[in-house]
Amino acid sequence: MKFFVDTADIDAIAELNELGMVDGVTTNPSLIMKSGRDILEVIKEICDMISGPVSAEVVALKAEDMIAEGRKLAEIAENITVKVPLTWDGLKACKTLSDEGRMVNVTLCFSPNQAILAAKAGATFISPFIGRLDDLNQDGLDLIADIRQIYDNYGYETQLLAASIRTANHMSECAKIGADVATAPPGVIKAMANHMLTDKGLDQFIKDAEKAGIKIV
Ligand code: E4P
Repeated sequence: MKFFVDTADIDAIAELNELGMVDGVTTNPSLIMKSGRDILEVIKEICDMISGPVSAEVVALKAEDMIAEGRKLAEIAENITVKVPLTWDGLKACKTLSDEGRMVNVTLCFSPNQAILAAKAGATFISPFIGRLDDLNQDGLDLIADIRQIYDNYGYETQLLAASIRTANHMSECAKIGADVATAPPGVIKAMANHMLTDKGLDQFIKDAEKAGIKIV
């Protein structure tokens, strides 16, 4: 499973990238707002650092305006993935931009039917949101499993990019289901390293090493 980092925080991306944990980056207008930076500037900086796909989201609502924004974003770098919302206009923009050979990530997907339409419109990635469904007391992971099954039934090439990931458990569940990609905030990726038995075991080993006077360098 590929890891995309869901942030516009340059330092956080750089830290994970040094460990080989970053196969791509996703952003959205809320994350750009949080960074407090100009979208074109911050996206360019991310693309200079990361060779994998970097999703930059349009902010228009009409297809023709989304297409114009998508073309402008795509000028930033070759690895730009234009992110469009899963609306009828977003699907039109997806079809045009993907026919032009650009990578397109269709976002804000909350149902299997929406995922089918995105695949038909030539999306490179479909982004179903797990956490926001969980927030409504639905199981977001069920949506990931449903889309996996449907895409496999018909050999759709659109990559399943699990999004709105809130916990380390979401990451392992997505990997079990077979998501192609999971995009998560840096804190969730780092939390995957945590286990209370690791902490407990290490505490004991360090105490015993001190008692035994073990010195290595
Ligand atoms: C995906 O591309 C989105 O940017 C993101 O995963 C949304 O996550 P949230 O629901 O935690 O805001």
